[in-house]
Amino acid sequence: MSRILVVAEEGTFEDRAAREILGCLAAAQQDGAVASLALSGGSTPRSVYPRLASRAHSSGVEWGRVEVFWSDERCVGPHDPASNYRLARETLLAPLTVSAARVHRVEGEMDPEIAAEIYDAEIRRILPGEPPRLDLVLLGLGMDGHTASLFPGEPTGRGKRLVIVGAAPSHPAARVSMSLRLMNAARQVLFLVAGAAKRSVVAQILSGRAPELPAAQVWPEEGRLVWLLDREAASGLQLL
Ligand code: 6PG
Repeated sequence: MSRILVVAEEGTFEDRAAREILGCLAAAQQDGAVASLALSGGSTPRSVYPRLASRAHSSGVEWGRVEVFWSDERCVGPHDPASNYRLARETLLAPLTVSAARVHRVEGEMDPEIAAEIYDAEIRRILPGEPPRLDLVLLGLGMDGHTASLFPGEPTGRGKRLVIVGAAPSHPAARVSMSLRLMNAARQVLFLVAGAAKRSVVAQILSGRAPELPAAQVWPEEGRLVWLLDREAASGLQLL
């Protein structure tokens, strides 16, 4: 139930993110286990994933033993420039030659409710437990306090569902997202937040002043919560 805040020194955000991700996956693979990872979308990962790919070879993580999921996906096809799968494929999965058998994308080209049901079943097929427990879930943070595709004022999926259909205020509106229930079952959640534009919402959430925001409700019951910020995103915090 711990919450850890890490503020990366100038110019080290991507390296800190890569180290945190690889360290978590290596720990999950101890004793030959298969690790499970949910990748986040948006633009922040665009600089993180290439650094992750470049450091992966010296990390001891065996990518043939990592099941890859997404914390959310836009309801577009896999080749669409807006696709979170496409971003990860181009910047991480292809460079690391991750086997397609280990990649579990959301079929964003399908009807959103059907895509959500298929994704829910795939998560359950690969991960045991009720709810299934991912080793690491990566999340971004929107300026309105959304995370993945859990938006303010929308259902966040505290109930039984592992996967829900979200409605974004920006195009493409239809999204498929891991639910709060699935996120909070994870062994570790890592928020990756960078840029001065997130300064205010980070301060609101981390000071406890916005408990109603979806990102503020992410707190693994029996896991580790890490907020990794760059100096700009952390600049509104009253640190020591
Ligand atoms: C998406 C993401 C979304 C994102 C935040 C932050 O599909 O867009 O899942 O939740 O993480 O909106 O986005 P940026 O990294 O672009 O600021």
